[in-house]
Amino acid sequence: MFNAIGRVCCLALLPLAGLAQASQGSELAKAQGMAYPAVIAHRGASHDAPESTAPAYRLARELGADYLELDLQRSRDGVLVAVHDDNLLRTSDVAERFPERQGSPVSAFTLAELKLLDVGSWFNKAYPERARASFKGLKIQTLDEVMAIATANPQRQPGLYIETKVPGLFPGIEADLNKALQAGGWLDRPGRVVLQSFDRNSLALLHQHMPQVPKVLLLWVGKGSIEPASGQTFAESGETDKAAFNARQQPKDKAEFERWLDYAKADGAIGTGPSAALAGGGAQSYADLVQPWMNQLSHDKGLLVHVYTVDEPVDFRRVLAAGVDGIFTNRSGPLLRHLARPSARSEAQILSAEGY
Ligand code: G3P
Ligand code: CA
Repeated sequence: MFNAIGRVCCLALLPLAGLAQASQGSELAKAQGMAYPAVIAHRGASHDAPESTAPAYRLARELGADYLELDLQRSRDGVLVAVHDDNLLRTSDVAERFPERQGSPVSAFTLAELKLLDVGSWFNKAYPERARASFKGLKIQTLDEVMAIATANPQRQPGLYIETKVPGLFPGIEADLNKALQAGGWLDRPGRVVLQSFDRNSLALLHQHMPQVPKVLLLWVGKGSIEPASGQTFAESGETDKAAFNARQQPKDKAEFERWLDYAKADGAIGTGPSAALAGGGAQSYADLVQPWMNQLSHDKGLLVHVYTVDEPVDFRRVLAAGVDGIFTNRSGPLLRHLARPSARSEAQILSAEGY
């Protein structure tokens, strides 16, 4: 999975000050069998197709992403599925299909019930400029289905980057995931799967079940993660602009940031997944945890840095120069172009060729 071409291209794009860090990062990635710099397709190519659906993952694979990212949850009858939110309201027609359970978690639905939901039409309404008739009626994907997509094209074989989402709702999901990955032969090659969580307990359980698989502790500033300098939550601040509030947040001090790097190591992680402040702000812009000193400290502790969630060239440039080793992105195409690994086909061409 280590990408020598990507490394050369990335190094060429960096200012001199970043070269030493890039070299540290590329060596750490190589030791784990991981791509460098890693292009992680966040919920698939989710700018151009509905998140966590077949076209989003097929498009990311064909563009050449290194990893397909997914948020893992479990149906009432024990099937692992890719869903991000704590409930199904934002991305499905659950309110029409199951009005009495519309706010319920994924664990309240059997797989057969989940498969009745339309998880494509919301995207057409939210993003009419990217809408496609074929997105209407798309289905929730099981982990097995995402695995099948990842291996369907022998020329394009992305890895999987799997987050245990709200793991407190799914006791035993770490063991279930281990079984599924073993059964699919996914653990045979180092670095083909990366596991991630915001939840330290879940990360430790993942490590217990799969000690040999690279793991990443996701970081943010706020409740349950790094303590903020402001000492306030958004609600306590009384402010109205959440993105602006988030972007101003900082760790309480250097020692607090370092404490979380040490937690990551103690929990068995080989890297962290920090948030970033984005030039244009917006809902994906959070506390900036990829300042050069932070990435340097992480590398010095032997930890890789994979930042979430970055979609614009101005931000690609900034976070790469600051020393990150991989990027979660909804827009794999532009990131691959930025890294001089462009797809020969556009997103629209690929989606059409894939039948969407
Ligand atoms: O998993 C990295 C990033 O995806 C974390 O944020 O909320 O998009 O899962 P979220
Ligand atoms: Ca995620």
